[in-house]
Amino acid sequence: MVSQYVKLTGRPEIPPLWTFGYLQSKFGYKSRQEVEELAETFRQKRIPCDSIILDLYWFKKMGDMCFDRIAFPQPEKMIAGLRGKGFHPIVIEEPYVTKESRLFPEGDRIKVFAKKQNGETYLFPFWAGESALVDFTDPLAKQWWADQHKELIEMGIEGWWTDLNEPEVHFPDMVHHDGPAQKVHNIFALEMHKSLALAHEQNCPERRLFIMSRSGWAGSQRYGVGVWSGDVESTWTDLKKQLSVALSMSLVGLPLWNSDIGGFKGNEPSPELYVRWIQFGAFTPIMRPHGAHQNREPWAFGEETEKIVKNFIEWRYRFLPYIYSCAFETYRTGIPYMRPMVMEVPEDLNCTEICDQFFFGSNLLVAPVLEEGATSRKVYLPEGLWYDVWTWQSVEGGRTIEADAPLDRIPIYAKAGSIIPTLPVMQHAEERSWDKMTIIVYPGRNGEFLLYEDDGKTTAYKRGEYRTMLFSQKNLDGKIIVNIGAGTGSYPESVEQRTYHILIPGVTASEVRMNGKSVHSIKQEEGCLAFTLEDQPVKCEINVEIVINK
Ligand code: NOJ
Repeated sequence: MVSQYVKLTGRPEIPPLWTFGYLQSKFGYKSRQEVEELAETFRQKRIPCDSIILDLYWFKKMGDMCFDRIAFPQPEKMIAGLRGKGFHPIVIEEPYVTKESRLFPEGDRIKVFAKKQNGETYLFPFWAGESALVDFTDPLAKQWWADQHKELIEMGIEGWWTDLNEPEVHFPDMVHHDGPAQKVHNIFALEMHKSLALAHEQNCPERRLFIMSRSGWAGSQRYGVGVWSGDVESTWTDLKKQLSVALSMSLVGLPLWNSDIGGFKGNEPSPELYVRWIQFGAFTPIMRPHGAHQNREPWAFGEETEKIVKNFIEWRYRFLPYIYSCAFETYRTGIPYMRPMVMEVPEDLNCTEICDQFFFGSNLLVAPVLEEGATSRKVYLPEGLWYDVWTWQSVEGGRTIEADAPLDRIPIYAKAGSIIPTLPVMQHAEERSWDKMTIIVYPGRNGEFLLYEDDGKTTAYKRGEYRTMLFSQKNLDGKIIVNIGAGTGSYPESVEQRTYHILIPGVTASEVRMNGKSVHSIKQEEGCLAFTLEDQPVKCEINVEIVINK
């Protein structure tokens, strides 16, 4: 049904690779100096990060759509510096233009705002100051707003944050190009997204669009939109709710969902709540802490927390090929990153009611900890063999188990038959090419994985400039056959040779042969059989036969 639905409403675009890294936000960073120090701290602490997100303070007045050059002197230099270090800054924007802002006089003159019945600009009191609302249903307004992005695009801004676009304040007697407020209310956010798409089309058509949006509508996924759950509270109750929201959004064609890690409002989260939210957030399509007037950086909650958080952020970077391949599947089929249990195991009726655990991609079952003080939790494992990804231990499914969940981990299981491609940890997603991969092969069932690669930034993938590789495993009596298919397709700067480090949990082998020749590098590594296939041309198929000790 989801696939049919995205055929009607549009395919979820593949966002830029960097958006799958760790994105740091808060409301908000107030100056160039603060942003630069923050970026430096990430690199010094070697905590990977791909973006610093700028909330309201980057401009003076809502509707300026330009940097406040006092708080952010020479923003072009700041952005260039951040880009040089591998950060992709994102800036916030709202559909509201305050009367005192830079853009109000022009917008009022050319009539791009929602109007009163008599045709005058509809002005109203708003928390940001007396405001007008850009009428995104008007093609002229869409173009005008798109034009406001030109300079920012040229400065190097590569991600957009469309806030308040429900729109937050909307009056029944407002008149829009496409009709009264009630008629256009629901599609308003989508019309705003189209304006940003226009900005890209006219100024950087090759660059992928990425929009973090508070609202969306059927079709927003065509514009690289990831909707987040808005201003949720920093409480355990609200953390719990995020799972049902995430899974519901995933099923309605807006799969690039995320939440404010740590919660947005209320009291400061305890270190424990922040850790548990980070652990959940690492398995949502976008990993982004955010909060109102509170710190949300990995080091803001003490040293123990920092260590755990760093580990989960590093997880994101190691699993980038897995997540990115999932983005390709989502683009092709609409099948979301986060999947309710029933979507993966529809024949198991026990799965229909479960919404406190889910699949991230088709291989990983994730059970976040949602109770304060918990050090274990119940996890339902469907029929078949599963592997605890922390200990490599296998466990029989078809039952509910009590899984260990000390503060530094949440239960994550890979199903037998899974093949998961991983990378060495990087400090940002584009730091290195994918020339070295560790492939985790969870044995006990036959299975496949389609690896997807492209340039990570342009829209060339839509013209077929990408490469896929099919990995498979066959489990026979006394043997496992692992096949690495020849790479299909190519894209500029793709790696032509790759070293594979293969890990197979719970197995020892008397011999490993690659394309008929003995592999000498076999050893045991933390409960796994391990061997390395050096510098393999990606154009050639590799067949590995593993003779296992029973
Ligand atoms: C409301 C948004 O939901 C929140 O994330 C943001 O920080 C504030 N607006 C301030 O811009």
